Amino acid sequence: MKTILITGCSSGFGLETARHFLDRGWTVIATMRTPCEDVLPRSDRLRILRLDVTDADSIGRAVEEAGSVDVLVNNAGIGLLGALEGVTMNSVREVFATNTFGTMAMTQALLPQFRARKSGVIVNVTSSVTLKPLHLLSVYTASKAAVNAFTESLALELEPFHVRAHLVLPGRAPDTSFGENARSRMRDAIPEAYAPLAQSVFTAWQQPGPVTNASDVAEAVWRAATDPSCPMRLAAGADAVALASA
Ligand SMILES: NC(=O)c1ccc[n+]([C@@H]2O[C@H](COP(=O)([O-])OP(=O)(O)OC[C@H]3O[C@@H](n4cnc5c(N)ncnc54)[C@H](OP(=O)(O)O)[C@@H]3O)[C@@H](O)[C@H]2O)c1
Repeated sequence: MKTILITGCSSGFGLETARHFLDRGWTVIATMRTPCEDVLPRSDRLRILRLDVTDADSIGRAVEEAGSVDVLVNNAGIGLLGALEGVTMNSVREVFATNTFGTMAMTQALLPQFRARKSGVIVNVTSSVTLKPLHLLSVYTASKAAVNAFTESLALELEPFHVRAHLVLPGRAPDTSFGENARSRMRDAIPEAYAPLAQSVFTAWQQPGPVTNASDVAEAVWRAATDPSCPMRLAAGADAVALASA
């Protein structure tokens, strides 16, 4: 029976991915900053571990408690919508600490066991914003584009050890807690001069169109984890798939 460790399972894509793998008989290590047993069905194949990907001690403890892992999913992430002039450097550092350095640190922590066993899969969840630039997302996009570049180079150095690395690029998913969780970093992030631009962005979001569901992401992660012949990059969600094939 295979074991998957997923970061950021308290809500959204991470939570749905944990459910998806549990339903298919895997052992799931669902990690959360604040562990909550109630969000997933009870199962003797489920372990919930505390993990903050920005904290080296937390990573060390979680990886030790996890033991043997076959697939790592770096899903934990935070958003930041705002004009560069309006965002604080603290917010910039926070976004990179979570999305970029957290992904690298988790990967580094799991790699020794993958390399020793000559097997393992790393799935990094980035975003379709890296396929087509959008307004007011420069810092967030940079944090995810860095993970794309990191993953593509890392995949090459891991080939000799039969360890695979893949990218899942979701589109916009209004149904997760992502937007709400980003709100605290967005205070004053739209200076007056950028207000008309922000208004047009918000208006465009109200228009009907394809979006991404958490299940699209869970399915893409499933494919990356179980199909060794799948592409390095997997778009997830109708909007992301359309962008990737444009
Ligand atoms: N929603 C979208 O439109 C969208 C589109 C493309 C890509 N993505 C990416 O998809 C991933 C999941 O997003 P989502 O939509 O599912 O958002 P979400 O519902 O806000 O989930 C994000 C998860 O990351 C966790 N997290 C945040 N900081 C963390 C840290 N320092 N250590 C560990 N966990 C941390 C959150 O935990 P807490 O409950 O503790 O905050 C939460 O469980 C993110 O990487 C995001 O950038 C999202």
